[in-house]
Amino acid sequence: MRKPKVIRVIFALSLGCFVMVIVYFNSNLKPGSEPVGERSGHKSRRSPLQALYEGDQVESAVQALHQSRRELLEEGCRSYTRKRRVLIPEDLKHVIVDDQHGLLYCYVPKVACTNWKRVLMVLTGTAGAQRDPLAIPANEAHVSGNLRTLSEYTTSQINQRLRSYLKFLFVREPFERLVSAYRNKFTRSYNTAFHKRYGTKIVRRHRPNPRPEALERGNDVSFEEFVYYLVDPATQREEPFNEHWERVHSLCHPCLIHYDVVGKYETLEQDSRYVLQLAGAEDQVSFPSSSKSTRTTGDMATQFFQNISPFYQKKLYNLYRMDFLLFNYSIPEYLKFR
Ligand SMILES: *[C@@H]1O[C@H](CO)[C@@H](O)[C@H](O)[C@H]1NC(C)=O
Repeated sequence: MRKPKVIRVIFALSLGCFVMVIVYFNSNLKPGSEPVGERSGHKSRRSPLQALYEGDQVESAVQALHQSRRELLEEGCRSYTRKRRVLIPEDLKHVIVDDQHGLLYCYVPKVACTNWKRVLMVLTGTAGAQRDPLAIPANEAHVSGNLRTLSEYTTSQINQRLRSYLKFLFVREPFERLVSAYRNKFTRSYNTAFHKRYGTKIVRRHRPNPRPEALERGNDVSFEEFVYYLVDPATQREEPFNEHWERVHSLCHPCLIHYDVVGKYETLEQDSRYVLQLAGAEDQVSFPSSSKSTRTTGDMATQFFQNISPFYQKKLYNLYRMDFLLFNYSIPEYLKFR
């Protein structure tokens, strides 16, 4: 057991050296000093990154808010992560690139990512002449290939973009996001792909004496069973979590990538406006305002967690702990282990 591990580590290290993406954040950049490349057209305009750090057109209260979110994240990374490893292209599969405006967006499922992808399709011209994000079908927004991710670029192109583009992501209260994922993937009859892929496995492993049709269809997974599945160490040994319940920390690597704007679902409209304002794209597109009545709320999360024992609540909290800490979410009041 011991030797293969050493070999694996050495392999990983040497791989890291070759595929390495420079530790750009060490350069203690004066962000915005770098020109943004390949921006066709309006070359004279400031890049979003310059707009952010030289910001004068933006309200100072908003700026201060985002600065304190950045500082909190940085402080959290210092306190709670031990070693900084190097970034590899594999880490950048969730980072969408807008070369026209100089934006990098790390998408997190269940945090308005469909709408952000739609907006980026408008901004990058992928949507043709379409200017209304909501006119783009949701499934179009998720077709890989419609938008480019940073992992598709060469190392030097990656570094150049990490240095000079505005990097942002949107986060959400971790358990609210989790309940939203559960409701969307396991309680809607149309999501048969998820029922087959994950539901049947969850029923097989975490339900005593399941009925044959439940084993076959996997369409009646309870939230409790979903929690057992998540906290079972075997689950992640087998394969990474599906992106809908994977932690933001693992999807977007916020301690390796220095995000300039941490948007929150709780303040989605203001934060989206802020990003579009920095990108100088306010006239080009507006972020769709949501009016969804089926949206998962904190109250709903309270209900779902009622049936979960303190022991499992604690295990689940530990699993999502980094997302709570790095993005300033406190332990929910309704948890019983507090
Ligand atoms: C963190 O959360 C606390 C409590 O909700 C709040 O008072 C504080 O302003 C937040 N800090 C940042 C940087 O968002």
